[in-house]
Amino acid sequence: MRRIGLLTSGGDCQALNAAMRGVVKSLLYSGEQIEIYGFLNGYQGLIYGNYRMLDGGDFSGILTRGGTILGSSRTPFKTIQDPDPNGLNKVEAMKHSYYKLNLDCLVILGGNGTHKTANLLREEGLNIVTLPKTIDNDLWGTDMTFGFQSAVDIATEAIDCIHTTADSHGRVFIVEVMGHKVGFLTLNAGMASGADIILIPEIPYDIDKIVKAINARKERGSKFTIIAVAEGAISKEDAKLSKKDYKKKLEKRAHPVSYEVAEAIKAKTGQEVRVTIPGHMQRGGSPCPYDRVFASRLGAEAGKLILKGEYGFMVGYKNREIVKVPLKDVAGKLKSLSPDAAIIKEAKLLGISFGD
Ligand code: F6P
Repeated sequence: MRRIGLLTSGGDCQALNAAMRGVVKSLLYSGEQIEIYGFLNGYQGLIYGNYRMLDGGDFSGILTRGGTILGSSRTPFKTIQDPDPNGLNKVEAMKHSYYKLNLDCLVILGGNGTHKTANLLREEGLNIVTLPKTIDNDLWGTDMTFGFQSAVDIATEAIDCIHTTADSHGRVFIVEVMGHKVGFLTLNAGMASGADIILIPEIPYDIDKIVKAINARKERGSKFTIIAVAEGAISKEDAKLSKKDYKKKLEKRAHPVSYEVAEAIKAKTGQEVRVTIPGHMQRGGSPCPYDRVFASRLGAEAGKLILKGEYGFMVGYKNREIVKVPLKDVAGKLKSLSPDAAIIKEAKLLGISFGD
């Protein structure tokens, strides 16, 4: 008999359920006797001992279901070692839940912050296996995270819809895409939808270069311009600020970056500019077929690791192969796009401006 804990932590995304289903199915089909403890709302469930006992039936019919059957929450790593408002030691409380239920291992699905805590629990002696989720695709150690392709589909569709309206009205349209501090989602959705200008955090923009690209399109007879802006896009001036000063500026900023870009374009070109922000839509709905397959594969491989008793790994994807990556290597690192990446050079060959 193996006792497995499961939890989903951080911002949700598509295919969390598909991934958990993959883990459980692969364990059940091995003939292994298992008990499954699903901790509710991420690490909060582990800290406060809130869990549900689950069986195979709970994982039936959830391959296509968005969100997470366990619920999720953000439990910031930077305060994980601080006592809770009632003085509870959160790390000890998580260990207590694990040992009280006599778990053999804990399967944790999450992104960057989640992996820091997962690694801490590993250091504390718990058996941990993790799976890489996030629409941002910013997790180090894996070329791809599940949720990413589904979010690319949604953001692409949003820009596709804007395209027709931009054409009808001859306007500049900005679509702001999620992605936190990296530009994978914006770049891919932007390229997939034929955006003319793509602004990503990894390439600070110069507003005059954006205006130049808009004017050049106008001179070539294009009535409209589509700009895909990453939520973390940053101007060249702001990129020169210290991290502390930039953080202060962000705290004071009343509107998302897209509105700053829109105002500046309006002022410099006199053109009508509209901003659309699909926001959390990008994390919602049913996972795309790619993510269903991908998350199922990752889940199945996690099941394999558990059966072999190999713990302390994230199941990732490198060079088109599923791999196990030591958690100690993953925790605390951010994956971002290199401005010299082939895809960026190719986008530039297609005439896409990055405002640089
Ligand atoms: O990490 C996923 C993500 O959707 C980011 O793209 C975005 O910056 C953030 O989460 C939004 O977080 P929240 O759901 O807490 O508003």
